[in-house]
Amino acid sequence: MFRIAIACCVVLSVAAHGAKAETLTARGDYLVNTIMACGNCHSPRDGEGRMIPDKAFSGGLTFDTPAFVATAPNITPDAETGIGRWSDAEIRRALIDGVRPDHGHLAGVPLAAIMPANFYRALLPEDLDAVVAYLRSIKPVRNESPVPVYKAPVRRDPYPDAEAGFDKKMFADPVRRGAYLVTVGHCMECHTAWSRGVSDFRNGLGRGGRTFPAREGAPAGTPDSVAANITSDPAAGIGAWSDAEIGRAITEGISRDGRRLKPPMAYAYYAGLTPADLADIVAYLRTVPPLQ
Ligand code: HEC
Ligand code: HEC
Repeated sequence: MFRIAIACCVVLSVAAHGAKAETLTARGDYLVNTIMACGNCHSPRDGEGRMIPDKAFSGGLTFDTPAFVATAPNITPDAETGIGRWSDAEIRRALIDGVRPDHGHLAGVPLAAIMPANFYRALLPEDLDAVVAYLRSIKPVRNESPVPVYKAPVRRDPYPDAEAGFDKKMFADPVRRGAYLVTVGHCMECHTAWSRGVSDFRNGLGRGGRTFPAREGAPAGTPDSVAANITSDPAAGIGAWSDAEIGRAITEGISRDGRRLKPPMAYAYYAGLTPADLADIVAYLRTVPPLQ
């Protein structure tokens, strides 16, 4: 669906005045609504766990952890309850440094670590601008988000690929292009083992094991979900899967054995990935060192 929408925008923008701005917004639409899956946290759901389309991005999940209780807030351009009064530079800083603007409520206070700024700092400048342009283009929705409570200082675990950074020249290699997409998609935030609340990216990359409680409002008795091992290990991981099987798990939420994957795996978003992006993601996953 998104792919079709983007194709139309790109064609239109070639002819239209302000072509560059429109292309930027279309690129942001693609990133936000596929690989970056911002709405997976920031959009509200109805009682059945379905997205409410006309309330998109107006505030979503609440995370109650030992370090903080924080709700993914309203990121629509609403001036009162969203980010309508933030400058582009302030939005960029929130995304890649995880720090709020120096005005308004909670001025200058860091965002809870669940907001994946440690991954987003890998964004190429043009992709960061594209995300900001898209956020500015979405429908403003009035919705007050609950005020967060912080119980410990914010600590973001540095993600090695994001710290090293990317530039476009590296993308001649499908594996590095895939690594970029997996980084900005923060796949490894969920899929890396936690030890005492720290993501062990160096020794546990892709090993899985993190447990996610069933979503609020899910039918009673819904079991927790546990992030899978997506390393190249042929037994514990996905090393023995075909490209098509890995692609189906990512975009359709169906495991190799036909089992339906549970949330928070964001396959509904990844369904809109271009075939080229999906192929490069798979190429990178094949290089993740095997772990049992
Ligand atoms: C894993 C869940 C998650 C994902 C994915 C996520 N966010 Fe967030 N985001 C949060 C939470 C939670 C907060 C609030 C943290 C706090 O209050 O300390 C937040 C805060 C923000 C803020 C600051 C808003 C404010 O009013 O303080 C912005 C802007 C933002 N996110 C944008 C985005 C964008 C754009 C994306 C996708 C590129 C995204 N987020 C992806 C969870 C997420
Ligand atoms: C918000 C957390 C989260 C994010 C982000 C996430 N996943 Fe997942 N993923 C999960 C969980 C949880 C499962 C297991 C669900 C289940 O077993 O029902 C899963 C399952 C999978 C599986 C199936 C493995 C198997 O053995 O069945 C693959 C492959 C996968 N994820 C790849 C990815 C990739 C690639 C990305 C990034 C583009 C990604 N995931 C992002 C949480 C996440």
